[in-house]
Amino acid sequence: MLVGNRQSDLIGQTDLLKVPSLSRLTGCDIYLKCEFQNPGGSIKDRAAKQLIDDAMERGELSSGMTVVEGTAGNTGIGLALVAKSYGLNMLAVMPNDQTKEKERMITMHGGQLKTVDPVPFKNPNHFYHTARRLAEENADYWWANQFENTSNARAHYLHTGPEIWQQTAGKIDVLVSVAGTGGTIGGNSRYLKEQNPDIDVWLADPDGSGIYSFLKTGEYVSEGGSMTEGIGIMRLVDNFKEAQIDHAVNLPDQDLISLSRYVQQQDGIVLGSSSALNVAGALAAALYHGPGKCIVTFACDLGDRSASKLYNPEYLTGRGLKLEPEPIASLLARYRELGDAILTVKYRGD
Ligand SMILES: Cc1ncc(COP(=O)(O)O)c(C=O)c1O
Repeated sequence: MLVGNRQSDLIGQTDLLKVPSLSRLTGCDIYLKCEFQNPGGSIKDRAAKQLIDDAMERGELSSGMTVVEGTAGNTGIGLALVAKSYGLNMLAVMPNDQTKEKERMITMHGGQLKTVDPVPFKNPNHFYHTARRLAEENADYWWANQFENTSNARAHYLHTGPEIWQQTAGKIDVLVSVAGTGGTIGGNSRYLKEQNPDIDVWLADPDGSGIYSFLKTGEYVSEGGSMTEGIGIMRLVDNFKEAQIDHAVNLPDQDLISLSRYVQQQDGIVLGSSSALNVAGALAAALYHGPGKCIVTFACDLGDRSASKLYNPEYLTGRGLKLEPEPIASLLARYRELGDAILTVKYRGD
């Protein structure tokens, strides 16, 4: 796209960037799909556009109406941006413990923001239920519902997956992704496995999320917590059900500090926290397979969205994390020994 008539036209068609340092260390080609290039700065712009496009096509949403959504932030930014392009209004409901960087961007894009206390999903005041209730109470509100509305995964099935297939000339061996709603891993894994069923799909899961345990035992159980935002979940949602997954790893926040600092120093790439987990997962996959593989993962957003957490020494020490990155040789040695901690699964969704 060289000329867009409105900002939402610039969503998608992101570049693929090799991570030179980790590719050299592992003998694999490790690529990042640069989703921070989307105009709202994250991968969630893609879901936002598809959710709104499909709803407008179905006649559920028309100009002048208000899109309402519960969000950890990036979907809210994407929806605010697309809403503005389409003559819609946007109301984001966000838990108040997410980075202020994202809250600010929603309002800077003209979105209205309602923050709520972070509470467990079963509490009716959870951001998800609050957004749904607001839509039920207002006739001209439309609830995007990024968790259950599969236009989200469809964005990746129709666009991101084909872009990856084309950019790697069909040579992709391994796809690695975190999951929040599961839209990214759902749509991409489904499209890419239709092209080549042997592509090995890895889920990277943070502490505090139940997806790893769900894939292992069928139960959502979590241990600890994570500074990552927008990823990890304790329930099975429709977008995740689209996913086709072969391996899963659960990796701690301490590794995100080590790896984000390593690629920052070596390659000048400043990762957001979920992207750091993606890179950690890609490294684990590269060491599991050995040299020669083409591995693709996502830079879901840029490090500036994680400035007050992943890159904030006070915040990190407050969480009991060590600031000193683990030497890369030690991290590589540890990842070579992950053994049974790497789950082999055959999750084929619905
Ligand atoms: C920074 C970031 N990374 C990853 C994700 C997860 O993507 P998905 O919802 O497609 O699973 C999100 C979702 O909000 C996000 O904000």
